[in-house]
Amino acid sequence: MLSSTLITLAASLSVASAQVYKGFNYGATNTDNSPITESQYQNDFSTAQKLVGASGFTSGRLYTSIQAGTIDTYTEAFQAAINTKTSLLLGLWGSGGQAGLSNEITALQAAIKNFGSSLTDLIVGISVGSEDLYRISPTGIENMSGIGAGPDVISNYIGQVKSAIAGTAANGKPVGHVDTWTAWINGSNDAVIAAADFIGMDAYPYFQNTMTNPIADGYSLFFDAYDATVSVAGGKPVWVTETGWPISGATENQAVPSLQNAKTYWDQVGCGRLFGQVNTWWYTLQDAFPTTPSPSFGVVGTTLSDTPLYDLSCSGVSTSASDIPSASVTAAIESATAASAQAGNVGTGQKIGSGSEAQGQNAGSASSPAGTSPAAQQQTSATETQAPAQALESTIFSTKGVTITSCPGGCPKESQLQTEAPTVPPATAPTTLITKTSVLPSASAASASSCLASLSGTYEYPHLIVPVDKTQPDKAGGTSYNGTISSTISSIFNFDIPQTDSGKTCTLVFLLPQQDQLTTSVFSLSGSGGFDVAQLSSPVTEQTSYNTVSSVSSDLGGPESVTPGNEYVIASGSCAASQRISYEVTATGSLDLNYFQDFNPSPIGFYVTVC
Ligand SMILES: *[C@@H]1O[C@H](CO)[C@@H](O)[C@H](O)[C@H]1NC(C)=O
Ligand SMILES: *[C@@H]1O[C@H](CO)[C@@H](O)[C@H](O)[C@H]1NC(C)=O
Ligand SMILES: *[C@@H]1O[C@H](CO)[C@@H](O)[C@H](O)[C@H]1NC(C)=O
Repeated sequence: MLSSTLITLAASLSVASAQVYKGFNYGATNTDNSPITESQYQNDFSTAQKLVGASGFTSGRLYTSIQAGTIDTYTEAFQAAINTKTSLLLGLWGSGGQAGLSNEITALQAAIKNFGSSLTDLIVGISVGSEDLYRISPTGIENMSGIGAGPDVISNYIGQVKSAIAGTAANGKPVGHVDTWTAWINGSNDAVIAAADFIGMDAYPYFQNTMTNPIADGYSLFFDAYDATVSVAGGKPVWVTETGWPISGATENQAVPSLQNAKTYWDQVGCGRLFGQVNTWWYTLQDAFPTTPSPSFGVVGTTLSDTPLYDLSCSGVSTSASDIPSASVTAAIESATAASAQAGNVGTGQKIGSGSEAQGQNAGSASSPAGTSPAAQQQTSATETQAPAQALESTIFSTKGVTITSCPGGCPKESQLQTEAPTVPPATAPTTLITKTSVLPSASAASASSCLASLSGTYEYPHLIVPVDKTQPDKAGGTSYNGTISSTISSIFNFDIPQTDSGKTCTLVFLLPQQDQLTTSVFSLSGSGGFDVAQLSSPVTEQTSYNTVSSVSSDLGGPESVTPGNEYVIASGSCAASQRISYEVTATGSLDLNYFQDFNPSPIGFYVTVC
């Protein structure tokens, strides 16, 4: 039922607005395999909290609840977290078989019993497993990433952990799973999404070495992965459990490790759109004690220091559009679209795999007793995360539904997209949005020159929905999953038209099924009247308020009345490839419409269909 989706969504939104967590990942062992001790954890946690230039890194993600070198003794990280008031995303190793999981549960239960609420108050969530699904995927196997576990096993383990904490002080804490974004968008793993309370996503553009992945594309590759994961998450919260860019190590395709590139990635991805907005555990604080691995991702080196290796202050991040790598956006869209086009299923929503990435070492480490396997995991987690298949990414990108993205740091300007596009290899046809429009006020007016209103072919869904309220004209609209159109509120929809749509026809449509045709959405409709659609002169952001909406570049009109069970063709024209286009929708008459934008059958809301 739609209601469950919406309830989950509402819950996640309220949690997010209450507190957004920010921190680093913490393994169980040092690079020489010696166990990390309580005093080390304590130093790590307090260093994270007082990093020069940064603040609020008060959360830690763990891979295991077992202290390295023991069978089922709880990790010394717990006491250190209590001492430093560090919140925790707990981890239970999920690839050690039932015996391994049982040991994890034993350790966790003992810790809960011993510490009570001083521990459980710190728990943000509990992840059962880490990249287990990735490790049994073709790329994981090819790259000997270690023993994994399948979706049925992980789902079963999630259920066991929920039962194990019921009746304890940790009762009701969210229990989920961490995996690579490629694993999440693989439909064969859907049972894990169904079982999980949250989705922990790992993504590393650096490892996406079958794609165009210079640092300039880091932002778009990461958020394509994030958006694709959100689109399959069924409204469940998607937390970023690992990402980062290495400071040293091998070049992976065009991805060059360096301090400068690590800082760029931190600024654009972390400061730009994650910190304070999405629960995020960066990879990582320190991975180089006592020796430096290759690649190395630490923001501090072998010596733990409050002074990071590069500037973490986010001060290099301006709110101007020029800071977001527009070329990368275009490149990602293009490669994504190209890949899906090659796969022949753009718009079908099918998931395809290809991919050959990931290297990862440590085969077999996961099979060792839980006390040691997480250590191995810690050392290799970054490599294991490897590059997900691009084809997967692209297909989802162009077909899957409700993805809300934004660019708080400023969205690329059309001119930038266009001028920088040439840096992208001209793989396939470019895509884009509507450049010229003709007003087609209703379905009946749809002409032969329009694409179908239905989503049977290629289509684009809005990447950002911003409601602006004229009764609160200076209030930033923020981001919404809903389209709201009333006498006081209008909604603005951003569409990113891929380069591959160049030369094609784009049609803006509005779909409003009957309530009983909806499976995961809902709408409320009252009053009478229709709406008017205006194309804006420049894209909006979450910061846009009623008073700061850009000027209208073209008034497209709209239906005079809106009735469920109809598809409305608003306007059609040649696609404005490689551009971000905003449409503001304002009520006419007394229309009061509020709906959850969703592609699930039946799709509801505003889309751009491409033909
Ligand atoms: C998709 O997931 C299933 C189950 O985890 C796995 O067996 C399969 O290899 C995965 N496919 C790809 C392309 O990763
Ligand atoms: C995975 O392993 C294959 C075969 O060893 C290798 O060619 C490929 O580069 C690896 N993937 C990554 C992302 O390194
Ligand atoms: C979205 O719209 C639905 C249908 O009107 C409503 O039930 C829900 O509360 C709305 N959600 C938000 C966050 O406004």
